[in-house]
Amino acid sequence: MTTASSTPALANNGTDSHPGLRRVVTRFFNARRVAEAVPVIERLAGELLEAARARIDADGEDDLFTSFAQVLPCRVLMELLDIHDVDPATLIRWSDASLELFWGRPTPDRQLELAQRAGEFHRWLTTTVRTGKATADSFIGALARHRLPDGAPLDPQTAVAACFFVFIAGQSTTGQLIATVLRRALVEPGLWPRVAQEEEAVGAWVEEVLRREPPVTTWRRVVARPVELGGVELPAGAQLLLMLMGSGSDPEVFTDPERMCPHRANIRHHLAFGTGRHRCPGASLARTEAAVALRAAARGLPKARLVAGAEGTPMLGLLSFRAPLRVAVADG
Ligand code: HEM
Repeated sequence: MTTASSTPALANNGTDSHPGLRRVVTRFFNARRVAEAVPVIERLAGELLEAARARIDADGEDDLFTSFAQVLPCRVLMELLDIHDVDPATLIRWSDASLELFWGRPTPDRQLELAQRAGEFHRWLTTTVRTGKATADSFIGALARHRLPDGAPLDPQTAVAACFFVFIAGQSTTGQLIATVLRRALVEPGLWPRVAQEEEAVGAWVEEVLRREPPVTTWRRVVARPVELGGVELPAGAQLLLMLMGSGSDPEVFTDPERMCPHRANIRHHLAFGTGRHRCPGASLARTEAAVALRAAARGLPKARLVAGAEGTPMLGLLSFRAPLRVAVADG
């Protein structure tokens, strides 16, 4: 992760072991695997929405953030990574605690609580990596087969650090994207019935949300060599906070950036997934999950309308992550 003491693996790795480790991730989440995952995502989405439907019938409403948006990416990742010995609620709790610990501003007491959860997560991952029970074609199996530039196998610490990042990156951010996609789609006139029918409308809506309201709003980078940027001299080692979200609302790139306009010719010219050597290798999976989730929700809950909470929408507001924490719906 971004702390100085953690083992360099993916996003926090500027060494020569990064390209190879990154290749393990990009190969694992390649286009074929994402395409093959679609029926799995559809099945899981269907199950979760059926339960949401039952709760709306019984209680009048349901929060699609906790019952659907948050759970779907976790269940998908568990299937893709062949993980069965932990329940989704625990993985979500561990992942969210890690996000808050590394990117939030918790009080000392809260830090302790979060560190305990992140520690449990780390211990579970260490056991999972060390037991060697993973099948050869699983992600952990691919890490075990991987060789570093000097030919050495991966030490368990680095394998755990890579898994730690993929588990967090692969579920929390995607859940956050789905929450925003649903909320925005529910209030956009005429969109809900359209996305239930039109394949193209779904993908374009997801992309506009990524452009305008991405879950990963900022990202940290360290300056590798002295450079001048926008008239500012940046010395090597300077820490930067890149405003990724701003790129999607740049009026020099997007006409009327505040308008949700799914027919933009340059719809993907945003930085929601970063850029360069660390660009998100899960972008295709994230886009696919969000599209399947939106279509399935619009089809499974055709009469859904957003229920406004008394205190507005609670938002996750961490240094790099922003998303609604509630998507309560009832039949309209
Ligand atoms: C909406 C969902 C997602 C968003 C917005 C997102 C965004 C990002 C961003 C901004 C970065 C840093 C890019 C940079 O430094 O230029 C990143 C890196 C990364 N993401 Fe994602 N991500 C998402 C989903 C996923 C998924 C589903 C996975 C895995 C299955 C994933 C795995 C990773 C990994 C491994 C890295 C580090 C890559 C490296 O350092 O080479 N992400 N992501």
